[in-house]
Amino acid sequence: MADSSRPFNNESATRPFPDKPHYAAKVYLIAIVAALGGFLFGYDTGVISGALLYLKQDFALNSTQQEIAVSSVLIGSILGAVAGGRLSDGLGRKMSLIIMGIIFAVGAILSAFAPNFPFFLVCRIILGFGIGASSFLAPMYIAEMAPPSLRGSLVALDQLLITAGISISYFVDLAFAHAGLGWRPMVGVAVIPGLALLIGMLFLTETPRWLAERGRWREAELAMDHLSVEERQTELTAIREALRVNTGGKVKLAEFFQSGLTWALIAGIGLAIFQQLVGINTVIYYAPTIFTFAGFQSASSAILATSVVGAVNFFTTLLAVFIIDRVGRRPLLLGGLVGIIISLIVMGFIFLTGASNTGTLVLIALLVYIFSFAIGLGPVFWLMSSEIFPTRVRASGAAISTFFNWTFNFLISVTFLSLVNAIGISSTFWLYAVFAVIAFAFCWYVIPETKGRTLEDIESFWKNDRKWEPAPTERRLAHD
Ligand code: BGC
Repeated sequence: MADSSRPFNNESATRPFPDKPHYAAKVYLIAIVAALGGFLFGYDTGVISGALLYLKQDFALNSTQQEIAVSSVLIGSILGAVAGGRLSDGLGRKMSLIIMGIIFAVGAILSAFAPNFPFFLVCRIILGFGIGASSFLAPMYIAEMAPPSLRGSLVALDQLLITAGISISYFVDLAFAHAGLGWRPMVGVAVIPGLALLIGMLFLTETPRWLAERGRWREAELAMDHLSVEERQTELTAIREALRVNTGGKVKLAEFFQSGLTWALIAGIGLAIFQQLVGINTVIYYAPTIFTFAGFQSASSAILATSVVGAVNFFTTLLAVFIIDRVGRRPLLLGGLVGIIISLIVMGFIFLTGASNTGTLVLIALLVYIFSFAIGLGPVFWLMSSEIFPTRVRASGAAISTFFNWTFNFLISVTFLSLVNAIGISSTFWLYAVFAVIAFAFCWYVIPETKGRTLEDIESFWKNDRKWEPAPTERRLAHD
């Protein structure tokens, strides 16, 4: 049995909530509320695939206009990523997420009542702004609230809700299509999770790290009441140590090129770019089209196969939530990339040989691909971009990485169909496989294992020439 009179013994340091099990429930609740930002990210990006069929009739859209309808949200997301960093440093993480809740709710209502196509596009750009900003604000909020031992799982909840949002949007599209109600309610119902995010965040506190950074220690301590006593002590000590070297004032880009932080920036931007370069959103946005290429006869069988892809994406992410803090980030990331490489190469061959059962084989290869993404690169990128940067530059670092993620999302999505026309579908998948091989080498050399580390440990890792110092807990033990 653990000796409870020694708060810093080894066993309790590895167990998340040694004395008060109810803390765990509260911590999960906090993470789920913030992860509604992720749900809206998934819903508002996924909903357009089904809505598009009706939009194009109502507004008589040609194919270029349809492409614009799909990609306008990505333009908004790029802008949101740029603005979100400054916003969350200035107003705080909590207030920024509240503002995003308002944007999601108002954007949903306005787009549902859009009288014409330009108005609809403006609404999609505004919604995109909310998506881009909350895509990193939500995981960052969770990372700053979470105890180190659960941080991976809690932040991965955000990715889980992204995948839930994507899958649910397919079903909502299907339901309203069957009911003959068209695209307006499809985009309109997003007002519900938008309001839930807004109201839920009103009840949560600002993060202890943002408060401490501004010298508001008393509030910072109060903002930790979801942690056990010993975790609160460990976290406060770690935050204090990290802030002793804090320079204060506005964050400048030059800071990323000092004291080892360049590597953190390289890691964040690299993961952001590779998450998109392996081609995930050609599957998420164009799966029915890929299945049609593979010989699926009817649109409905292609859509059915797409929902299977959505379900595997969700359930694999659920698995990642459970194992990421035990197995660690690197094994999931690297193992997942191996699966991505193999499935992309195989997919290219299936299309090349044009076997009679191409449809089924492509479905199997795509499922292996989506499994491999959802177990690694999917959750690990958003987790890492929220934990690898020191508190002072966390929002800016995450915002820069997020900017690259959305920019490459845009580039890959808008070039997919033209690439298929130009070099063929097999070579397109092989190109993504080449990117995945480079991604593997990059992750192998650059990405550290952050499992179980406090955010402040990670900070000193970069500043210490990418070497781990003993964690505060271990340092105290050494003194005892
Ligand atoms: C990516 C999105 C992608 C989603 C799929 C996210 O981590 O950032 O671009 O659509 O995963 O599940």
